[in-house]
Amino acid sequence: FFPQDIIIKKRDGGALTRDEIEFFAKGVVNGAFADYQATALLMAVFWRGMTPQETAWLTDAMMRSGEVIDLRDLPGAKVDKHSTGGVGDKVSLILAPLAAACGLKVPMMSGRGLGHTGGTLDKLESIPGFKVQLSVPEFRAILQQVGTAMIGQTPQVVPADRKLYSLRDVTGTVECIPLICASIMSKKLAEGIDSLVLDVKFGQGAFMKKKADALTLARAMVETGRAAGKPVRALLTAMDQPLGRAAGHTTEVIESIECLKGRGPADLMEVTLALTGHMLILGGAAKDMADAQAKMQAAIASGAALQKFREMCTAQGGDARVVDDYAILPTAKKQIALTAPAGTRGFVSAVDALKCGHAIMALGGGRAAVTDKIDHAVGLADLIKIGEPVAPGTRLCTLHVNDDAKAVRAETLIREAIEFSSSTPTREPLIQDLIS
Ligand code: URA
Repeated sequence: FFPQDIIIKKRDGGALTRDEIEFFAKGVVNGAFADYQATALLMAVFWRGMTPQETAWLTDAMMRSGEVIDLRDLPGAKVDKHSTGGVGDKVSLILAPLAAACGLKVPMMSGRGLGHTGGTLDKLESIPGFKVQLSVPEFRAILQQVGTAMIGQTPQVVPADRKLYSLRDVTGTVECIPLICASIMSKKLAEGIDSLVLDVKFGQGAFMKKKADALTLARAMVETGRAAGKPVRALLTAMDQPLGRAAGHTTEVIESIECLKGRGPADLMEVTLALTGHMLILGGAAKDMADAQAKMQAAIASGAALQKFREMCTAQGGDARVVDDYAILPTAKKQIALTAPAGTRGFVSAVDALKCGHAIMALGGGRAAVTDKIDHAVGLADLIKIGEPVAPGTRLCTLHVNDDAKAVRAETLIREAIEFSSSTPTREPLIQDLIS
């Protein structure tokens, strides 16, 4: 093959063969496809699209561009969850120990935050000592011993995605459903899972702003999973306001531990229990959603889920005493309560998740470029939710800050994010669709 022939074929609207796609995925790693040729093909795919078959082949070829973890010798069903990301989305921190306490193996490889969205690895790293960069043998050992391990992608897993994503990021080819689908699914399938649950978010704070686009992506990923022989279920969930009442790193770890103690906010628990419930069903640990709910409630009430969180922390080098003493976590110098101004009456009608994400970035808790350092201590807590009543002096949010000048900018953004109305706003359901 010659790269230029493959580029021309896609440019002119043709469907690529499995061998051509394989040559491309291998070529970006071994140099047979130069960066300029790879980006030309990515742009051609952006405009011309890919059939479900091409997308499945691309996913498979990308997955096989590096190490595919084989967990077949580990007893139990290996089930993971992936979220397309949002603000305050700390579901993984609750779901992984909860699912493990209910009998699943949860091999989770997560990412870091970029732009206004947070990343699981950054949140975990606010726990002193917690190591997310583990080798595959360490990952496997913890998975066997604890039932869950939460790590960053190892350099050996899906090198084609690392290369392609960095090219897409700077060439206007990120927002392309077959490419997003292959990027996400190749990484998840390389973890050695038997099945997968997806949280595809839509709305202001999500990667996909429009529900229709989220639905298309969800369908593409479910279909790609099926082509790989792995059952996949996707939930379509709203990301108009942050999930839960905390966003940042330390603040989200605390809220996650509170959830495992049975004191989580309703919206966060609703999404977490729905996703974990589908994992239990796919993994054969529950026969239906009612059974799954009973098992999850029991694991929370007995402390078994919290105990899994402790075990995971310890196994990954983290200080498990955080569970009982939040002061061990990095703490910001100051907490500033933002309250509703004089004259406010009625209900909260909007808490713009995107603006909240920007407020966290303004505080120093986000990353504009992959190499940026983040401050784990800063963030938001006690965030008011859509539909809650307000009067002058009602707390809207607590800012955790380390720098007064940054706090001013964050306060402006939070005040812009929160809107009021005189009547109760109509609420769309948080979970809007199940695709399987
Ligand atoms: N997340 C990924 O991992 N890949 C994409 O292409 C988009 C979001």
